[in-house]
Amino acid sequence: MMAGAKSAPASSTETSVSPAASHITVLLHEAVDALNVRADGVYVDGTFGRGGHSRLILSRLGSQGRLIALDRDLAAIAHAKSISDTRFNIAHAHFSGMTEVLAELGVEAVDGILLDLGISSPQIDEGERGFSFRFDGPLDMRMDQSRGKTAAEWLATISEKQLVEVIRDYGEERFAKQVARAIVKEREDGHAITTTGQLAKIVAGAIHKVEPGQNPATRTFQALRIFVNQELEELSLVLPDCLRLLRERGRLAVISFHSLEDRIVKRFIQSEMDRDNLPAGLPVRAKDIPQPRLISVGKATKPSQAEVSANVRSRSAVLRVAERTSVQ
Ligand SMILES: C[S@@+](CC[C@H](N)C(=O)[O-])C[C@H]1O[C@@H](n2cnc3c(N)ncnc32)[C@H](O)[C@@H]1O
Repeated sequence: MMAGAKSAPASSTETSVSPAASHITVLLHEAVDALNVRADGVYVDGTFGRGGHSRLILSRLGSQGRLIALDRDLAAIAHAKSISDTRFNIAHAHFSGMTEVLAELGVEAVDGILLDLGISSPQIDEGERGFSFRFDGPLDMRMDQSRGKTAAEWLATISEKQLVEVIRDYGEERFAKQVARAIVKEREDGHAITTTGQLAKIVAGAIHKVEPGQNPATRTFQALRIFVNQELEELSLVLPDCLRLLRERGRLAVISFHSLEDRIVKRFIQSEMDRDNLPAGLPVRAKDIPQPRLISVGKATKPSQAEVSANVRSRSAVLRVAERTSVQ
């Protein structure tokens, strides 16, 4: 589903960037600076959210520039439709489908791609979305509520073994077995788990040693969210697509919020850096023809102390940037 906006603003500047409603954009300037925005370039924001990064990118584009934004959340799409700018398109899509979205718009190559992973504050803070143990609401957790199974539907059918794996691998929860057992027992006792409050209570009852300052349900909720939204699969799929889509010297900037995501990004960039070019002294075969690859730009960037103080949700953010090389 695509929405192109109508009229272009006469001109826009950084000072005219309006704050993203109810979501404080993390590493705003660091991420957009990293893209090296060219006035006439074509850019992709794969995670529009409330548009904080998108608005800053737009403010740096000239009249020939272009920004294509994606989000899998319909509330984000509704918000994006308030941007009236002919240089801007928004698509309701998963970023793993970025190539198809761009193809539909006649775009084959871009100058920069931004991914600000994870969930937005409105998603967490609206109890109805079912992401948070802080509010009682339906146990949904889908970023894209137009498709897929809710967390409640998964919990009704998932095997205990798979549940242990999800909670252990995606939540890094050392009491994964106990939590999974408690969830399955609830099911066996004939009680469907349909609300966040119910799940938080079951998890709290299964964990006997709580980390200081952390709600016992934190890790289980993170695990289910990652699983329901296939977040790591999405990321693994989109990274090679980004490399294919970037023009020479085009930049990829990714902000991760936990070590599972960051590890995937870091390893992908590292594997690109380690990829051999032409083997010296050997006859050239088709598969040996040098391919463009990514090289890391600078070190990983974390939010400043001032940013973390102003927005505690930024505390675990890590920005990694890579640039596409030439084929030479
Ligand atoms: C952290 S927020 C982005 C905030 C945004 N940069 C801003 O400044 O307002 C992440 C957004 O990415 C979206 N998202 C996460 N994974 C996605 C995926 N695989 N495909 C498309 N959108 C995704 C979420 O729905 C959410 O709106």
